[in-house]
Amino acid sequence: MVLKAVNMIRSIVQGVVSEGDLAVDATAGNGHDTLFLASLVGDSGLIYAFDNQQRALDITRERLRAHRLEQRVKLICDGHERMDKYVTDRVKAVVFNLGYLPGGDHGKTTLPGTTLTAVEKSLDLLLPGGICAIAVYRGHGEGQREDALLREYLTSLDPRIYISVWAEATNQRNNPPLVWLVQKKRGTCPTNYYRIIL
Ligand SMILES: C[S@@+](CC[C@H](N)C(=O)[O-])C[C@H]1O[C@@H](n2cnc3c(N)ncnc32)[C@H](O)[C@@H]1O
Repeated sequence: MVLKAVNMIRSIVQGVVSEGDLAVDATAGNGHDTLFLASLVGDSGLIYAFDNQQRALDITRERLRAHRLEQRVKLICDGHERMDKYVTDRVKAVVFNLGYLPGGDHGKTTLPGTTLTAVEKSLDLLLPGGICAIAVYRGHGEGQREDALLREYLTSLDPRIYISVWAEATNQRNNPPLVWLVQKKRGTCPTNYYRIIL
């Protein structure tokens, strides 16, 4: 395995997601991560794949079709910050690959405020043992702001409920992506329940 962001995320996620699970691709883009998640959940599982660009979802649909995995994925053309409107059951994993569509309009990128809202909602949706994985690209302005906001939020998560880890290449040039992995601890109650009893 080459030690790069997407591979680190996949190797962790595949240890958590299995046949029959629900998972979310919060940024479908060109569909590589959606396809990967769909390959893990089998015919009895389901992936919710979000992108706010129809073009990205069309590319993702074609990729899934080519692998005959289309029926395992619900494609949703809306912002991931509204994911709780579509995903009501708890999920094993949520994957974010932030930034803009490779080969597309670089102006149509993920944005700090909506990314933070989506990450907060993702953590609420996780099952105990579930993982939220985020690749942050710091080579552009919005990516740097996402990095600052996520760092502040993810380092201050309640340690009784989450384990939050980051990984970054320390000797590579040109702003290599940063990976965040957040796991909801096993044996914890859903976060909303904590909010009520604390
Ligand atoms: C780096 S790409 C994702 C790459 C993708 N995971 C893949 O495997 O090809 C980021 C995507 O996030 C999408 N995006 C931007 N803002 C979004 C939002 N608020 N909700 C959902 N998707 C968004 C962009 O349209 C773009 O397609």
